[in-house]
Amino acid sequence: MSETITFKPETLAQVHQIIGRYPQDKKKSALIPILHLAQKDFDGWLAVPVMDYVAEILDIKPIEVYEVATFYTMFNMKPVGKYVLEVCQTGPCMLNGSHDIINHIKKTLNIKNGETSADGLFTLKNAECLGACGYAPMMQLGKFYHENLTKEKVDEILELCRQGQIALD
Ligand code: FES
Repeated sequence: MSETITFKPETLAQVHQIIGRYPQDKKKSALIPILHLAQKDFDGWLAVPVMDYVAEILDIKPIEVYEVATFYTMFNMKPVGKYVLEVCQTGPCMLNGSHDIINHIKKTLNIKNGETSADGLFTLKNAECLGACGYAPMMQLGKFYHENLTKEKVDEILELCRQGQIALD
């Protein structure tokens, strides 16, 4: 493991607190919450050395971390912008116009799915059902949902992001 990769001290305290919830031989159960902390501490994405660091902390094989991290779309496997726009594209959102929303974001930011805008602020990601189908179309931004989206509403959200006025957690 690289010497330079280490959680911030306050994060490390959280990591130990989470690991402490589980029996000594079941530390792997702490993997997902710790990956969330790792993503937050290390610029919003999980580089291989970061995942290796997590594996070392949990006494598991790196492949066990890679398997989980690559399975869930909430974990980023490459650098992302400050604002990750996770637009739901599953049935109910699709029927209510998510493709129009996605295309509008692509056009406005001049990016494709999975890409980051030239200013480094926004990354567009497709997401599967996020459990807010009654408010379709919707997207997740940080820990918050933005629902009943229209192109105008998206424009307002993007502008608020540029002004640093959108909460992520
Ligand atoms: S289909 Fe989009 S939140 Fe469920």
